[in-house]
Amino acid sequence: MDTIYSDLAPLYDVIYGALLHHGRRAAIDRLAAKWGESILEIGVGTGLSAVHYPAGCSVTAIDLSAHMLRRAQTRLTRRGCRHVRASPEWTGISIWSGSFERRASPPCRSSP
Ligand SMILES: C[S@@+](CC[C@H](N)C(=O)[O-])C[C@H]1O[C@@H](n2cnc3c(N)ncnc32)[C@H](O)[C@@H]1O
Repeated sequence: MDTIYSDLAPLYDVIYGALLHHGRRAAIDRLAAKWGESILEIGVGTGLSAVHYPAGCSVTAIDLSAHMLRRAQTRLTRRGCRHVRASPEWTGISIWSGSFERRASPPCRSSP
């Protein structure tokens, strides 16, 4: 999985940027994050969706691919998204422990 997305990382925005834009926005809108909520995004990719979370929430965005994650970190820094933290999955985050109020995996899914 890491290899596939590592190879894809430099091209991901060109291939899937505009193509999945609508689905990404729809997933974030459906999530309707409220001020103060903590959100886990699984599979942040290059950060195309992560930049759309409202500033009042706290987002942890994880990805298996270090290459994708690096691009996400660069994008989030450039866009000043200090409320979104892009992390590798292996940093001990307990996804199902109740640490997060919402989980999202744009462009297709979000859940309360
Ligand atoms: C479709 S891409 C990126 C989607 C991104 N949210 C967007 O809006 O463009 C899916 C991403 O999920 C990551 N991924 C796949 N399985 C994963 C898993 N089990 N845990 C974390 N990341 C995963 C891949 O490395 C890839 O970067």
